[in-house]
Amino acid sequence: MNSNVTIFDHPLIQHKLSILRDKNTSSKDFRELVSEIAMLMCYEVTRDLPLEEVEIETPICKTTVKHLAGKKLAIIPILRAGLGMVDGIRSLIPSARIGHIGLYRDETTLKPVEYYCKLPKDIADRDVIVVDPMLATGGSGIDAVSQIKLRHPKSIKFVCIIAAPEGIEAFSKAHPDVSVYCAALDEKLNDNGYIIPGLGDAGDRIFGTK
Ligand code: PRP
Ligand code: URA
Repeated sequence: MNSNVTIFDHPLIQHKLSILRDKNTSSKDFRELVSEIAMLMCYEVTRDLPLEEVEIETPICKTTVKHLAGKKLAIIPILRAGLGMVDGIRSLIPSARIGHIGLYRDETTLKPVEYYCKLPKDIADRDVIVVDPMLATGGSGIDAVSQIKLRHPKSIKFVCIIAAPEGIEAFSKAHPDVSVYCAALDEKLNDNGYIIPGLGDAGDRIFGTK
């Protein structure tokens, strides 16, 4: 296993993921679960954020406390499905800026097609968290990160919910400097590029388009 990959085995994440995978889970529950899992993952993904000491005054006395240094983060969902992860993360990091990268997989070639890119102006001063529930062939994640790298952010992390071994391998080869976080590393891809066992089409399940 690539050392840049972290799989979260926290029981709450695994429990929520088990419901997410179930084909009988409604679109409403699916959306809520994606958001909750993203929030729980964010708690660990941000573990290395730097702190600085500041002096404040409690109602009793002056004291030194720690708060986040800089706080310059950007969350960049890969449209559409990545949008489902934004609110959960933003509830923990309300000051984060949000960028958007629009990519869809061509159903025949499975190659990503880019249709939108709007990133925060000051992205060069920010640590970036790219979010997309699925890392399948890896094509979309690889392209999104390549686009973001052109704007030279301070750092990039990639957070997905389910990854396929094929996607992890391709992504780590293309972007060895980018840490990947996921809730599950599944078995493999099927002939249509879907993750087995996976959860189906994340975008369709979030937005109810199928
Ligand atoms: C899904 C998913 C990823 C991509 C993963 O998006 O949300 O972006 O597929 O596949 P890959 O690793 O093989 O590139 P999709 O292309 O279905 O678009 P959507 O989110 O708009 O439905
Ligand atoms: N995109 C999805 O939404 N699901 C998969 O299994 C693969 C790509």
